[in-house]
Amino acid sequence: MDKLVINGGSELKGSIRVSGAKNAALPILSAVILADGKFKISEAPELVDIATMLKLLAELGISSKRDGKTVTLNSKFDPEKIEAPYDLVKTMRASVLTLGPLLARKGKARVSLPGGCAIGERPVDLHLKALEAMGAEIKVEHGYVEAVCKRLKGAEITFDIVTVTGTENIMMAATLADGETVLRNAAQEPEVVDLARFLKKMGADIQGEGTKEIRIKGMKSLTNADYIVMPDRIEAGTFLCCVAAAGGDVEVTNVPVQEMRATLDKLIEAGLEINKLNDTTLRVKRTKPLSATDITTLPYPGFPTDMQAQFMAVMVCADGVSVATETIFENRFMHVAELKRMGADIMLKDKSCIIKGVKSLMGAPVMASDLRASASLVIAALMAEGETEVSRLYHLDRGYEKFVDKLSGIGANLKRVKE
Ligand code: UD1
Repeated sequence: MDKLVINGGSELKGSIRVSGAKNAALPILSAVILADGKFKISEAPELVDIATMLKLLAELGISSKRDGKTVTLNSKFDPEKIEAPYDLVKTMRASVLTLGPLLARKGKARVSLPGGCAIGERPVDLHLKALEAMGAEIKVEHGYVEAVCKRLKGAEITFDIVTVTGTENIMMAATLADGETVLRNAAQEPEVVDLARFLKKMGADIQGEGTKEIRIKGMKSLTNADYIVMPDRIEAGTFLCCVAAAGGDVEVTNVPVQEMRATLDKLIEAGLEINKLNDTTLRVKRTKPLSATDITTLPYPGFPTDMQAQFMAVMVCADGVSVATETIFENRFMHVAELKRMGADIMLKDKSCIIKGVKSLMGAPVMASDLRASASLVIAALMAEGETEVSRLYHLDRGYEKFVDKLSGIGANLKRVKE
């Protein structure tokens, strides 16, 4: 197992490019199940999660080849290949995104039930309920969701909670259903919109993506298509937090500026200087100490839960007291104990953390608990005095492409070593 060794105190300078969005690429790759033929997906980030999705697609009869940032897939209908096995699903919950497309295309699916994870229980009951409303018969047996249907039927579905992968799963299923499906209280996340754009390139009839009500008219079949995945707003936000913590002057390119308003507004409120050079390029500078800023995580367009840990790391050394409230996941404060080991003053109370800014942090050995928590520990390490070791690096590898190379490229002092 690898760990990261980081020496804090270096200012960041230069230019850094954001990769394609993991959370857009995963559903887009899964949508390939819906049609036959050759697909060219560009800006598919080289990440462990994407490799897992490609392995899963191989189990489902879809071969793929990577050439740099582009993945070429060959989708061939095989009605018998319908199983997403436990050993893949257990490493990536997003495997459940194959359920909707499998049912819509093959009329059967056997998908391992994802377990809980470090940030919460994360059930998939809303995905199953919606598919049942579309006519699927679903049993959960031996840890697997076993689903069958003739042709799915269009239905009116109101999600009890806003669910991102739930919206994506049902939107994909509805593209091949008989009749119209209306999704209410749908997720408005940019990644849902990116998936809808791809599905439309495949011939789907979708309206209202990016709003709370999405309407999908089912088609008899869809066709293959090529697509360029949108840039990753969470990776971009993480880089901005790195500069906010370490200081410096950095140009960030390939930024989905329009889709990250909430994160940008909070960093600007905290005192970070962010200038838009063009539609996808930001110049970010820290010219003064940052001030305490409160955040509350919410579904899009609110502040993303996937940025909570990184923003909190920045607030640890800001002037004053800030409050970070998590409303999406019940257990997403695992980074707090580790930040405290580095000298942070944080009190956890129910769904909120009260963060009293301290003058400085000290490097320490710390352990990553999940993907975004890992990023927050790296951010804290960039401003700490001395050396920090972040272990359990596999979490970072799931979601940040070439993280060490990219940050070293703008002057951060970090290296990957064997534990
Ligand atoms: C997606 C993102 C993840 C992000 C999250 C919230 C992907 C691959 N992952 O995860 O990075 O943190 O959105 O923005 O895109 N819930 C239920 N029942 C369900 C489904 C969800 O109770 O059937 C609950 C969850 O436990 C959670 C909330 O709804 O409390 C939101 O979860 P959801 O939006 O579904 O998260 P994911 O799609 O898993």
